[in-house]
Amino acid sequence: MKAARSLPQAGGRALPVTFAPLLIEWQRQFGRSGLPWQNTRDPYRVWLSEVMLQQTQVSTVLSYYPRFLDRFPTVGALAEGSIDEVMALWSGLGYYSRARNLHRCAQAVMSEHGGAFPDTADRLETLPGIGASTAAAIAAFCHGQRVSILDGNVRRVLSRLLAFDGDLAQTQPQRELWHLAQSLLPSAPSRDDMTAYTQGLMDLGATVCLRSKPQCSRCPVQSVCQAHASDQVQRFPVKTRRLQRRFESWWLLLVCRAASDGSQQFWLGRRPDRGIWAGLYAPPVFPDEAALHAALMTGAHQDLVPLEPVSHSLTHRELRLHPLLLRVTAEQGMAGLPEGQWVSATSLADWGLPAPVRQMLAALS
Ligand code: ADE
Repeated sequence: MKAARSLPQAGGRALPVTFAPLLIEWQRQFGRSGLPWQNTRDPYRVWLSEVMLQQTQVSTVLSYYPRFLDRFPTVGALAEGSIDEVMALWSGLGYYSRARNLHRCAQAVMSEHGGAFPDTADRLETLPGIGASTAAAIAAFCHGQRVSILDGNVRRVLSRLLAFDGDLAQTQPQRELWHLAQSLLPSAPSRDDMTAYTQGLMDLGATVCLRSKPQCSRCPVQSVCQAHASDQVQRFPVKTRRLQRRFESWWLLLVCRAASDGSQQFWLGRRPDRGIWAGLYAPPVFPDEAALHAALMTGAHQDLVPLEPVSHSLTHRELRLHPLLLRVTAEQGMAGLPEGQWVSATSLADWGLPAPVRQMLAALS
């Protein structure tokens, strides 16, 4: 199939002029609609959804988003909330630096911007946790600004559309693709056009132009896609550096006791502000089993019950978690163990726990 009308532009590269109108038309007819963060131009709501959706699927965000807004209906309420409460509401979504930046960003909006988010992508990008693509999404959705998003999905869509073979692990090709993304924007769009176009890019990447099984027969821009024309869809995007995950084992000491009212309690401490699970609450963690034994009161390790190990993938780490259960009596001291506090099994929902820890404790409760 031959590429349709195209404009010679952007470093001599031919850009399909029909891309934007085709995408807008398709989004209006077949794109996602009715998601709780659509049909609003409130920057607080759009920002919250975009941060939640950065590394998390729509189906998961659907349950977290309304709960978060119930508790923090405005940016001012969020700025005044405690970080522990923010972490508890984020618990299970992963990538917890997002939650810490969310809180910082809300505080910056209140203290430096008089409680209103800036209305251009450039100025939004100066706020904590708002990268170029998220800034563009907020500015396009809320104000119709003519700026392009370029998250991982959109990079894939555009590199296929243009058969862009620059290595996206490198800075210069990434910049070049940004320029191309800007050149593909609809000309003189209305606010609604920018909303449909931006959402269309997201929808195309999430539902049609899939990484391993692209649905080209359903694609609204198949006729102008250069990768499709040369039957090389799977060749794009080009990215040489692959993520390397390091393996690491952690031993978790789950200390459990029966409170005077018969309910169960767990010994949990706040993780340091940096590193894995930063700011969350977790049982004491040890790098190996010997270190765990060494921290225990004399003889207590005879009562340790090893539980099923759990694997947990993070961006740069493949964690193997080895939980060991120790039941203690109310009288036993916690001498030797890292700082912490007793948390009742019935109140775990109020605490910011890493997802695998929540699962382990739930199974014991
Ligand atoms: N992913 C990132 N932003 C999104 C949005 N607004 N709707 C659906 N998926 C998204």
